[in-house]
Amino acid sequence: MKKFKENHNSDEQEQSDTAQEAKKELYKLFRTEFGRSPDVISSAPGRINLMGEHTDYNDGFVLPVAIDRRTYTAAGRRGGKLFIAFTKELGKKTSFDISTNRFERSNFWANYLKGAALLLNKYGAIQGTNFAIASTVPRGSGLSSSTAFVVSAVESLIHLYNLNVDKSEIPKIARQIENEFVGVQSGIMDPFVVTFAKANTAILLDTRNLQYEYIPFPKNLSILVCVTGLKRALANTEYNRRREECQQAVSALSKITGREIKSLRDVTLQDLDGAVNELPSLLYRRAIHIITENERVHQMANALRESNLTYAGKLMIESHLSLRSNYEVSSRELDSFVEVAEQLYGVYGARMTGAGFGGSVVCLANSEAEEELAKEISQKYKERGFDSGSVFIARTGSGLQIERS
Ligand code: GLA
Repeated sequence: MKKFKENHNSDEQEQSDTAQEAKKELYKLFRTEFGRSPDVISSAPGRINLMGEHTDYNDGFVLPVAIDRRTYTAAGRRGGKLFIAFTKELGKKTSFDISTNRFERSNFWANYLKGAALLLNKYGAIQGTNFAIASTVPRGSGLSSSTAFVVSAVESLIHLYNLNVDKSEIPKIARQIENEFVGVQSGIMDPFVVTFAKANTAILLDTRNLQYEYIPFPKNLSILVCVTGLKRALANTEYNRRREECQQAVSALSKITGREIKSLRDVTLQDLDGAVNELPSLLYRRAIHIITENERVHQMANALRESNLTYAGKLMIESHLSLRSNYEVSSRELDSFVEVAEQLYGVYGARMTGAGFGGSVVCLANSEAEEELAKEISQKYKERGFDSGSVFIARTGSGLQIERS
């Protein structure tokens, strides 16, 4: 037990050193690019989701956790109407006039800033701003790197122009930017956890009314993030298709039951059983995933509260199987990670996290063996013939914050 504690302490120290380093570097980068210091640096974390996949656009429940990888946004007033932004990871500088609302497919990450300027302008006048952005969240891995970016950029603008925006509005603004200006039809889960997360907890969120509760994350439990390295080419189209299929299931079930059903959140297993002969089988499978997944969120929250890790792991495996067979959003790579992980002693469970198709698998493991397990999973995955892919150990992280002003 003592050994385990020491490991975590030195690890926390290491993480805070990395965070300090990242901030210092960004500060320097801003000075080099713009010849002066930033007025504010804000940051927001990436996330994994423990349970509740594809439930957020069905008014359902989710149980995400922020991780200790963050996106940092340094910003400074420049006057006029020009936004100039430099991203370290892409090594690119881009600029645009905030009074022209042209959105471009190619330079799509600039659309987040354009959307932010446009939406925040109703809270107060936004002026020309310099930005430098750096991130330790792996991009395109289903860990919400883009949400971390947009949430931190929104916060830096709020701070810079002294806008009267309540914190509870930030996830909604971020979601609107992603939906309307970037063209991703994502739900509320990611911007919500990225804004409100607390270290050492998961957030149990009811996406219908945004009521939430912090659930303690067990101390002897480690999060291993298995990144497939697969870009999710199909993800957007398939994601939108799943949303439509859920809508179709709602309409069909309303007709069959004679009840006005608003979303799959309001359908019980009994309703579904009664409709089994009339509901097309594809819609039945989509609906059964959502209904059972919502139940698993509550069961998982209880498992964490009671530190019943074996049960938590079992729920994760059930969730993955349902995402694979009923919701059909998994991939060979994601399935392989889950298969190799679940066979290892010390692993409680694993499942895909986020939208699916590519992205990452989250695996819950005994902290005492986290490093060996991460190595073993990575090696066994490669032995199956996949050459990209990596595994890293993540700690729980905190939500949106101002780092320096
Ligand atoms: C993506 C979306 C979320 C959520 C998940 C699936 O991450 O951004 O809103 O729908 O997929 O659970």
